[in-house]
Amino acid sequence: MLFDKSHIGGIDVKCRLVRSATFEGMGDHGLPTENLASMYETLADGGVGLIITGMMATNKMEPYQHCQIRIDDDGCIAPLAKVVDRVHQHGGKIVAQLVVMGSALLLPEIPEGEQRFIFSPSGVTEKVGKWTQESQALTQDQIHELTAAAARAAARAKAAGFDGVQFHGAHGYLASKFLSPHFNTRTDEYGGSLENRARFLLECIAAMRQAVGADYPIWVKLNCADFMKDGSLTFDESKQVMAWLADAGVQAIEVSGGNTSSLPRKGPIRAIRRTKEPMYFKAYAAEAAALLKGKVDIGVVGGFRSAGDIEDTLQTTDIAFVSMSRPYLRQPDLPNLWKNGSTEPALCISCSRCFGAENVDCIFNKREKEEREKQDA
Ligand SMILES: Cc1cc2nc3c(=O)[nH]c(=O)nc-3n(C[C@H](O)[C@H](O)[C@H](O)COP(=O)(O)O)c2cc1C
Ligand code: SF4
Repeated sequence: MLFDKSHIGGIDVKCRLVRSATFEGMGDHGLPTENLASMYETLADGGVGLIITGMMATNKMEPYQHCQIRIDDDGCIAPLAKVVDRVHQHGGKIVAQLVVMGSALLLPEIPEGEQRFIFSPSGVTEKVGKWTQESQALTQDQIHELTAAAARAAARAKAAGFDGVQFHGAHGYLASKFLSPHFNTRTDEYGGSLENRARFLLECIAAMRQAVGADYPIWVKLNCADFMKDGSLTFDESKQVMAWLADAGVQAIEVSGGNTSSLPRKGPIRAIRRTKEPMYFKAYAAEAAALLKGKVDIGVVGGFRSAGDIEDTLQTTDIAFVSMSRPYLRQPDLPNLWKNGSTEPALCISCSRCFGAENVDCIFNKREKEEREKQDA
């Protein structure tokens, strides 16, 4: 089943293994570098069914990191099309992850001469360890501009030849902040009831759908819950949002969870060796997949490390695909290794020391490269 040709979320794939969005830090002032194209080619050669890009900036209202890929103006289409083409030439499929970052931004940069600002639904100060992030509450006009910008970004992704788009609705980025009663204390139609808190996400999806047409794959990454101390998105609420997304014509939902304000060890990127809890969102995704069977494909990400566990997940639940992020940094050819009979789990130790860097790479691969370079010198 794992290695059968399949149709997931409106896309034909060679297997049900997906590379979950992974911020590569391989942009040069927002445009893709050779490193990025070559990373995707390696992944496609390694046998993964579909690659979801690292999150791409969709608007010019907020700062971004220059090493982040942008899809915020039409000049980005041609360079991105070249990257997509190379993935297709290597037999791969690729979906563009689109994000409105809001106050979850890391190391923001503002291009010279531009006015950009950090925003959130209500301007609630965010605490991440010792670090605090202030932000400005969005006006309704600004919300509408962000929605329109997301739709234009989706149209550009389609023009560049991407096989689909995935809207980032998880991990504390803006759509996820709107869903959270902790971060969203608005009293207008974007805050309060779940219906109101989901309005920004659903309006983005509706605008994107209008921009790309009825059949183009639109996926969403969504938290099953925020796992915060209080006032965060619950699983029951998340299941309702998933049902609304299915009604809105979203073809696939990738279930994740948590954010930088979650309880200790309850974030999206967990140290599973320490927590001893692999596949940490599987039960949530399985329940959602059973509930929404036939309406939307449900995938899952978070701590999957062995072909046996993944095959079992696909066989015994209604989950349509399994994503991984960190294991592909260490072993981009993991799908082919498993397909060719290896029963070894991924070598990734889930230490997350690859996170947050420009030119993302597994620290073990970096060390090996450095050793080789020393020997060659
Ligand atoms: C280096 C790194 C960058 C990431 N960048 C993104 C991103 O751009 N968008 C996103 O939705 N998730 C991102 N994630 C989260 C992963 O997609 C995934 O949800 C998480 O790592 C859990 O999966 P894993 O246990 O297979 O690594 C990133 C994770 C890592 C380690
Ligand atoms: S740095 Fe750690 S978490 Fe990242 S890929 Fe390497 S082993 Fe996995």
